Amino acid sequence: MTDTPAKPILITGASGALGRVLVKALGAQGWRLVLTDLAPFPDAVPAGAQFIKADLSDGVTMLRLAEGCGTIIHLGGVSVERPFEEVIGPNIRGLYHIYEAARREKARVIFASSNHSVGFHERTESLPADTQFLPDGYYGLSKAYGELMGRMYWFKHGVESVNVRIGSATAEPVNARMLASWMSYGDFSRLMERCVLTPTVGNVVIWGASNNSRMTWWRDDARAELGWVPVDSADPFAGQLAAAVSGDPVEERYMGGGYCSIEYTRGAPAPVWGED
Ligand SMILES: NC(=O)c1ccc[n+]([C@@H]2O[C@H](COP(=O)([O-])OP(=O)(O)OC[C@H]3O[C@@H](n4cnc5c(N)ncnc54)[C@H](O)[C@@H]3O)[C@@H](O)[C@H]2O)c1
Repeated sequence: MTDTPAKPILITGASGALGRVLVKALGAQGWRLVLTDLAPFPDAVPAGAQFIKADLSDGVTMLRLAEGCGTIIHLGGVSVERPFEEVIGPNIRGLYHIYEAARREKARVIFASSNHSVGFHERTESLPADTQFLPDGYYGLSKAYGELMGRMYWFKHGVESVNVRIGSATAEPVNARMLASWMSYGDFSRLMERCVLTPTVGNVVIWGASNNSRMTWWRDDARAELGWVPVDSADPFAGQLAAAVSGDPVEERYMGGGYCSIEYTRGAPAPVWGED
């Protein structure tokens, strides 16, 4: 049994894959949760939680949902590569509504950012948290913008945020790339707990991956300040997945994998960042 936060937590995207995992984990501990999503919540709503169906584009409703909440765990929005016009509403305007609500409530934002905000870095690199954004599509671009929005709200309004650049948070790793990028559901849930419970965080970045020995891509984030240590690992899957590669040179070269090759028209892979 961990500590219980003083105020309720608003979770957007509650009906999605990670939302459902998190609601189960935090609900089992009796945390007071306000859950929201455009899609109905498919599971039983835990005691101490309530679900309100809403669209992130409805700023007034987002303000109302956040009333009295101490933290907003923002998982909602377009979670895969989509055309610009589909991404911009939920992931840019919707995020603005979340930050405005956080500003009014003096709440902290835990933002589900993505490895796709830095997806065009090469897999041979080892990136500190303050690396250059190199988004690999409109989705990754929205996550980079989201992190910058958090930075602006911190400097201008003192709104705290933890920007978690999630790698691949799935039940199990399914290809060779995920031997580096995979994040177990358990490590994800424990990270969210630490993001909520750590007394002060400021504006920080966490690389969201488990304790995988191939996870040489990312380093130097704020995990020590949060007291988060990932304990799971993709390593036991290495035998069966090491050969699970695509054969696409763009996909295999960059951290963002298959998102990099979506509508890629450059011809040969781009040069190393900073050397072109
Ligand atoms: N799962 C991963 O590996 C991974 C990796 C990187 C980042 N992320 C991020 O983590 C978050 C959760 O990921 P997930 O895998 O659970 O995605 P998901 O697609 O399963 O869940 C996203 C939820 O957002 C909701 N949503 C979409 N548009 C909405 C809108 N306009 N208003 C209200 N709700 C809306 C959807 O209904 C869905 O339930 C996302 O922000 C995603 O970008 C996930």
